[in-house]
Amino acid sequence: MSSTSTVPSRVNGQAGPQNPALVVRGSDNLGELKVKKICCIGAGYVGGPTCAVIANKNPSIAVTVVDLNANRIAAWQSDNLPIYEPNLFETVTVPRDGIKGSREPNLFFTTDVDKAIADADIIFLSVNTPTKVAGQGAGLALDIGYLEAATRTIARCATSDKIIVEKSTVPCRTAESLRDILAANGKPGVRFDVLSNPEFLAEGTTISDLLYPDRILIGSLMDVHGQRAAAALASVYAAWVPRARIITMNLWSSELSKISANALLAQRISSINALSAVCEATGANVSEIAYAVGLDKRIGPHMLKSSVGFGGSCFKKDVLGLVYLSESLHLPEVAAYWKAVVDINEWQKDRFTRRVISSLYNTLMNKRIAVFGFAYKKNTGDTRESAAISVVNHLVAERAKSFVARRMRADCQINHAESNPANANHVHRQKPARSAKTKKNMHVAKTSRNPTLKHNLPSAVMVAAT
Ligand SMILES: NC(=O)c1ccc[n+]([C@@H]2O[C@H](COP(=O)([O-])OP(=O)(O)OC[C@H]3O[C@@H](n4cnc5c(N)ncnc54)[C@H](O)[C@@H]3O)[C@@H](O)[C@H]2O)c1
Repeated sequence: MSSTSTVPSRVNGQAGPQNPALVVRGSDNLGELKVKKICCIGAGYVGGPTCAVIANKNPSIAVTVVDLNANRIAAWQSDNLPIYEPNLFETVTVPRDGIKGSREPNLFFTTDVDKAIADADIIFLSVNTPTKVAGQGAGLALDIGYLEAATRTIARCATSDKIIVEKSTVPCRTAESLRDILAANGKPGVRFDVLSNPEFLAEGTTISDLLYPDRILIGSLMDVHGQRAAAALASVYAAWVPRARIITMNLWSSELSKISANALLAQRISSINALSAVCEATGANVSEIAYAVGLDKRIGPHMLKSSVGFGGSCFKKDVLGLVYLSESLHLPEVAAYWKAVVDINEWQKDRFTRRVISSLYNTLMNKRIAVFGFAYKKNTGDTRESAAISVVNHLVAERAKSFVARRMRADCQINHAESNPANANHVHRQKPARSAKTKKNMHVAKTSRNPTLKHNLPSAVMVAAT
């Protein structure tokens, strides 16, 4: 990161140059920061695609994505990318492989974490922050253990000033802990500025969400160093995001905005699912209700589709994180309010299987049941917290023979159990425990080999019985 003296200018969401050069103006007397190298720690659903878009739009910046999981890195280097997303392949391969005669490669995937950190001007932290499974806050709090480990690695390897960017979803005030760790463990004379830059992409629409974001949030300390670091990060996004959509705010607001957004989105799903039960009891149609209320400008049509329940790696853990934060702040009523959002979701999944059972004469023993769709939503291979897992577990507990029809794609399979070797036990513990009997009764039909199931699999779980 080179520094030269220029006129100061703040990036604050006001209209400004649409596509400024990467040289950005910093605060008084500190000069400009010219971003040349970015490192991203964590090559998962967020780190890989986000860096592919950043590299695509900033050909003059070298972007290196690192992970401790060698299999995942090898997959990013290959034609069988470790995740499936529409348009991901071309978004990755253009900056990764370059274009003969017109574009040099500027996107790299490696397990050499230490070197990538040492070289970088900006370091994104995109590691997993799952729900804690042991100790204080187990079952509720977000586990920032991986974030802390990555931060300690940065402190050990950094020999020049770095901007550290929280991309992972974190509890409010995490940046303070990271700053403490860096201050206590970093080399003398090396400066670290910590920014919050939460990611709002949704799996299934990752690339278009990254290309056309509703907003980019950058949280920083309000001192000159914080604002200068925020301006440097803003310049990276300004290569393709209109300045008016790049919003700076204080660190804690930015961190809490992400959890708040997920809580409000999950709350809408639980609200419409709770109403679906009332509809079933009264003869009203929940789709008609959603349509009618969604036309109200104050409510809007999005996230009002009734379903078996929300899944994915984020909603449940982030709402539970908010529950834990509220409890920690001695706000039990607030905690109970948000906990109800998760409780309704679990209830909806149970309610769905109870209805299957009662419609099949209250016994599933030896009935052959096909479950169409196993990912947690359409256009992703991600099965984390999929409602289908809970449905299949219930069906098998009733001694049904369940068949999962799943669109198997060579390019969309992340094996969560074998994630980062250092995390393998942890990741595995998050998976639903399956007994030997469950495994025996559950079969996966590879739909790519079964022409009758190949096309148009529904995203939500659908169950058929014989
Ligand atoms: N998946 C989403 O849709 C989504 C959307 C927005 C935000 N987020 C948040 O982004 C973060 C990452 O989510 P994800 O879905 O990409 O997770 P992920 O599990 O797919 O990827 C995380 C990666 O980090 C790696 N890792 C962990 N510790 C490491 C270390 N010390 N050094 C190097 N690599 C390390 C793991 O091996 C793993 O590959 C989470 O906080 C999540 O809540 C996720």
